[in-house]
Amino acid sequence: MAPCIVGHRGAARDAPENTLAGLREAARQGCRRVEIDVRLTADGRLVLMHDETVDRTTASTGRVGALTLAQLAGMDAGTRFGPAFAGEPVPSLAAAVGELHALGLHPIIELKCGPGEASAAAAALVRELGRAWRAAEPPLISSFDHAALAAVRKARTDLPVAVVTPALSDSWREAFASLGAASVHVGERNLTREAVRPLVAEGIEIGVYTVNDPARARELLSWGVAAVFTDCPGAIAAAL
Ligand code: G3P
Ligand code: MG
Repeated sequence: MAPCIVGHRGAARDAPENTLAGLREAARQGCRRVEIDVRLTADGRLVLMHDETVDRTTASTGRVGALTLAQLAGMDAGTRFGPAFAGEPVPSLAAAVGELHALGLHPIIELKCGPGEASAAAAALVRELGRAWRAAEPPLISSFDHAALAAVRKARTDLPVAVVTPALSDSWREAFASLGAASVHVGERNLTREAVRPLVAEGIEIGVYTVNDPARARELLSWGVAAVFTDCPGAIAAAL
């Protein structure tokens, strides 16, 4: 990962998260790289959604895993963010890949898994990318769920993966090594220079989420962090 600013959930401060409008906003802000969250639907497809339910981000209610793609695609994921985005649908991964290609954006696809979902979610991801992905550079696949990443790697050794961990003090190293991960993505809170420095010296690429304060972004990048994930990529880029 080259030193970069990653639009978190698109550009989540300025457009509804994990929507096509959010991808367009990230591109409009000059972002070249975004992170999106994907989840498995009841009918084995993937949609862009952070939470286990649609309750926070859409005008509807329900568990993503209990809803079909068609049901999710009919939900309004824009109104709760703001009236200007009314009618913005919950996108399928396939639709998002089409938009990413059109915008020239490169994604980190974070696979969110509910209990017992890892292998089905990984299989769906491999299947859908097989159909939809057309860019030369493959997407980076990340997850807190290391079993899901292992299943992705088993099916597609060419897909780079990244381990997500809330803190560097947690047990991420074993998964990182066994997966041959490209990077580790770590929570910003309590992250110190002392924790980062030896990893940078080892050549481990570190992405840090979620950094919306320009001073903190500057500090992290000065430590050798490869990427910061931010809800406001344009503002961070301008301040840097
Ligand atoms: O993968 C980095 C970050 O996106 C993980 O946190 O909860 O925003 O998906 P979350
Ligand atoms: Mg995420």
